[in-house]
Amino acid sequence: MAVPEAEPVPEPTPLHVTITGAAGQIGYALVFRVASGQMLGPHQPVILRLLEVEPAMGALEGVAMELEDCAFPLLTGLVTTSDLDRGFDGASWALLVGSVPRKAGMERKDLLEVNGGIFGPQGRAIAAHAGEDVRVLVVGNPCNTNCLIARSNAPEVPEERWFAMTRLDQNRARAQLAAKAGVAVSEVANVAIWGNHSATQFPDFANATIAGRPAASVIDDHEWLRGGFVTAVQQRGAAIIAARGASSAASAASAIVDSVRSVIEPTAEGDNAALAVVSRGQYDIPEGLQFGFPVVSDGSSWRVPDGFELDDYAREKLRITTEELLEEREAVQELLA
Ligand code: NAD
Ligand code: LMR
Repeated sequence: MAVPEAEPVPEPTPLHVTITGAAGQIGYALVFRVASGQMLGPHQPVILRLLEVEPAMGALEGVAMELEDCAFPLLTGLVTTSDLDRGFDGASWALLVGSVPRKAGMERKDLLEVNGGIFGPQGRAIAAHAGEDVRVLVVGNPCNTNCLIARSNAPEVPEERWFAMTRLDQNRARAQLAAKAGVAVSEVANVAIWGNHSATQFPDFANATIAGRPAASVIDDHEWLRGGFVTAVQQRGAAIIAARGASSAASAASAIVDSVRSVIEPTAEGDNAALAVVSRGQYDIPEGLQFGFPVVSDGSSWRVPDGFELDDYAREKLRITTEELLEEREAVQELLA
């Protein structure tokens, strides 16, 4: 009997992924993960578009040589450039990392003056040259307000396509809760990160679960939950700078991979993805702010779910971080289109 011929499986079209600041610390930890398929999946070919400033082009060529030497089967194209239009050409994902990191003693918002100006031109180049499906993740600090600047300069790109990174905070919060409870990180779910990726963010333990039970019923040290836990997450970036003499890089790259996957894959039942997204007024947050919310994705679209309980303590924390984001927005008025 003749064996029926198998239908040929169509090859997926390669997706263009732009990474800015690709010769920097985070870039060096990130590009290999994207090229190996860890971000967009093991069947999705990628064309990397690595964007740098002119003085870093030599170092970027070295990164490109190493990428070549990895012989990643999924890496079907590689562009290195300092030209914004070329950098964002056809991009389905734009990962905006390139910018100056803070040093010890600085808050992230102290970077607004030096970094803010990068994001208007990048937003305009994305609107003009990126793919119709483009989605943008802003990592460069202060990432919420930099994302707001880029988004406001690209009104052609739907507001739902813009994200700023609070996933590293969520990963940190999960790790802290797991260590305190003496369980595996995989047992901790539904930690929300509200507001700014800054020392005012609110890592929300009250809605979190550990092995399916409310975190606050598993961890009975409630003083730690409201004190040491919140501060540890808020100050983790500064603690890493103090210890390493440089800001987090490998964990940031890992959180970038997690962030993108959390948009393109459905969120697990009972969990949320931490992403700073445009506010539509949910939980009384002013409309238009790029605000860290719990997000649920179905793999193609996302929403901010109802039902997170916020007591007076949590409401006050949200008020403080909202206030800071409003101040940052006020400070960059001239950069908003
Ligand atoms: P880095 O200094 O090691 O690298 C930054 C790179 O960006 C450099 O190679 C630089 O040449 C490049 N660059 C600067 N301006 C650019 C521009 N206009 N266009 C393209 N490239 C440009 O810094 P890093 O440690 O990789 O950190 C990058 C940014 O990410 C910093 O702002 C840092 O604070 C931020 N960060 C954010 C998070 C987060 O959770 N949101 C976590 C870690 C770091
Ligand atoms: C982090 O959270 O590690 C980064 O935002 C870097 C920083 O400045 O803290």
